[in-house]
Amino acid sequence: MNLQHITFIGGGNMASAIISGLLQQGHAPQQITVIDPSEEARARLTAVCGVDARAVADSMLIDTSLVVWAIKPQTFAEAAQSVATYVQNTLHLSVAAGIRSNSIARWLGTDRIVRAMPNTPALVGHGMTGLFARPEVTQPDRQRAADIIATTGDFVWLTTEDLLDTVTALSGSGPAYVFYWMEAMITAGTEMGLSREQARQLTQATFDGAIALSGASPDSLQTLRQRVTSKGGTTHAAISVMENNDLRAVFIDAMYAARQRAQELGDAFGSA
Ligand SMILES: NC(=O)c1ccc[n+]([C@@H]2O[C@H](COP(=O)([O-])OP(=O)(O)OC[C@H]3O[C@@H](n4cnc5c(N)ncnc54)[C@H](OP(=O)(O)O)[C@@H]3O)[C@@H](O)[C@H]2O)c1
Repeated sequence: MNLQHITFIGGGNMASAIISGLLQQGHAPQQITVIDPSEEARARLTAVCGVDARAVADSMLIDTSLVVWAIKPQTFAEAAQSVATYVQNTLHLSVAAGIRSNSIARWLGTDRIVRAMPNTPALVGHGMTGLFARPEVTQPDRQRAADIIATTGDFVWLTTEDLLDTVTALSGSGPAYVFYWMEAMITAGTEMGLSREQARQLTQATFDGAIALSGASPDSLQTLRQRVTSKGGTTHAAISVMENNDLRAVFIDAMYAARQRAQELGDAFGSA
C-alpha cells in the first residue's frame, strides 16, 4: 500500500479546500486521486491542482492509504457500496454532514473511520472542524486525519459522536449566522445614508476588529461588551432593543433547530 496516497470521493467545494491545503503544505499532486462523476469538477481539479481525476472508482483504491469522503449525504450510501470491496484496509475520513460512523462502518465493512465537520472558511485556510474517531482508530490514524484537516485551519477532537451535530449547529452553520448579521448591518447602514460599499467595509472591519480584540483580550465577552455599553449611551440603546425582542433566545432556538436538522439528516440518510 502507498502510505502517502489519498483518494477523494467527491471533488466539490470541501474536497477542493482540503486538496489546496495539502498542496500548499507540499503534498505531491501525483499522490492525490479524485473520483467525481462531474466532468466540470474533474476538469477544474486537473487544471488548478494537477491531480488525477477520474469518473469512477476502481481497483486502484486498493493502493490508497486514506479515502476522504467529500460527497453530499444523500449520495454517500450508494457511493460507499460501489467501492466497499476495495477499501476495507484503508483509513476513512468523512466530511459528509450527518452520516454516522455506524452507517459508514456497515456500508464499507471497516471501523477505521474518522468523521469531520468542517466549515466554509476552510476554503481560505481559516476553517474550524470538529473531529470524532471510532474507538478502533489507532493513534497514528487519528494523527493522520488531524494532519489532513489542519491544512484547512483549526480543529477540536470530540469524545462522543453526537457532539458532531452540535458542532454542525455551531461552527458548521455558524458562518451563515455571521453573514446574516453582516447583511442586516449593511442594510441598516445603507438605509441610514452610507453607500453600500462603505457599509460593507465598515461591517467587515467591525467583525474583523471585534474578533481580533476578543482573541487578544483576557476579558470575557460579556466584559468586552459592557465596556462599549455605557448606560444611556448609543450601544445601550441598540442592545436594549435586542434584549426587549429576546434576540438571544431566538438565536439559541435557531441553533437547536440546526442541531435537530443534523440529527434528522443522519436518521434519513444513514438507514440505507
Ligand atoms: N461546504 C460546506 O460548508 C460543508 C461544511 C461541512 C461539511 N460539508 C460536507 O461536505 C460534503 C461535500 O460538500 P461540498 O460543499 O464539497 O459539496 P459539492 O461541492 O456539491 O461537492 C460534491 C461533489 O461530489 C460529486 N459526486 C456526486 N456523486 C458522487 C459519487 N457517487 N462519487 C463521487 N463524487 C460524487 C458531485 O458531483 P455532482 O455535482 O455532479 O453531483 C460534486 O462534484 C457534504 O456532505 C457536506 O455535508 C460541507
